[in-house]
Amino acid sequence: MKLFDENWTPLLMDWFDTHKRDLPWRTDSPRDPYKVWVSEIMLQQTRVEAVKAYYTNWMEHFPDIPTLASAKEDDVVRQWQGLGYYSRARNLHTAVREVMETYGGRVPETREEIRRLKGIGDYTAGAVLSMAYGKRETAVDGNVLRVFARIYNIEENILSAKVKKEITALVRVRQDAARPGDFNEALMDLGATVCIPGQPRCEVCPLSSVCKAKAAGKEAEIPLRVKKKEVPVEPVTVFVMRAGELYLLHRRPSKGLLAGMWEFPNCVGEGGQGKKALTAELAAIGVRVEEVSGPVKQIRHVFSHKVWQMSVYEARAAKDVISPLVVPSGWRWVPVTELADFNLAGPHNRILRDVDELTTK
Ligand code: ADE
Repeated sequence: MKLFDENWTPLLMDWFDTHKRDLPWRTDSPRDPYKVWVSEIMLQQTRVEAVKAYYTNWMEHFPDIPTLASAKEDDVVRQWQGLGYYSRARNLHTAVREVMETYGGRVPETREEIRRLKGIGDYTAGAVLSMAYGKRETAVDGNVLRVFARIYNIEENILSAKVKKEITALVRVRQDAARPGDFNEALMDLGATVCIPGQPRCEVCPLSSVCKAKAAGKEAEIPLRVKKKEVPVEPVTVFVMRAGELYLLHRRPSKGLLAGMWEFPNCVGEGGQGKKALTAELAAIGVRVEEVSGPVKQIRHVFSHKVWQMSVYEARAAKDVISPLVVPSGWRWVPVTELADFNLAGPHNRILRDVDELTTK
């Protein structure tokens, strides 16, 4: 992507200096990497306004890495309650323990090391390194992609890996070398408050004079919304099959979709027919289903070529079939405490989170 460019960075930084949002994780100078980290994880799936109170409460409970590392998981999850996507809290807890053990309690300063911590992806790594350590690292999220697509009138799909890579390279070129973290946050603030999805607020934008989408009158069209191709929806019936404290898992075949991963018992089908078919399949391996209730949850899991519309039921097995010896290979009765050790297929991991809730209620 070859683009005529002018240096608009000072315009953005001046705007940020007067319009930056007053947010609780931005108060320290220099920034504490732990605080940047926590805020970025919370912000991953949650709106800024909703995160504020959770962040403040979290810092009262777990003000630093040693405190969080030594906290009990129950307490960690409790403080996260309401934010959803609890694996974020569990991963954060695991990762700060790793920071204590491997890095003496200091968040590592290289992308390679920080990326190895559980729950830290490219975006979070760049955010922490730039905001807390002043590293020239990019943090390209959906906001940044939209802002750049407009500044440069990019009419390609910003969700494609190729375009994301190209935009990341452009961000690096424009990044303020002296204030890389502020630059990244300036883009986020601009994207969240001015260069918003749909109709942007160009009349208050510091970059409207350099914006190529604006010059072309395309600011409301870009980024182009790419029509997703229609994919078939397959109904799936799932039993969270319980016998006392044991849960039944099945290992998927070693070839094909989600090869070799574990799953809760399931079959294609829905409603009464799905339940009947799955009950029969389980009977064939010697597991007698005694009671089924639900569906307790509906999960839509999107693959590139199909969608699983999963109806999840709670099911109880007759007590006489729980000996590990009676299930064939590829099946396993697993204590609830060990479920997380199995490499569960993505959508089944989502069910596992609820199993935690089911077993603690
Ligand atoms: N969204 C994600 N990270 C953010 C940050 N540091 N400031 C504002 N909004 C954000």
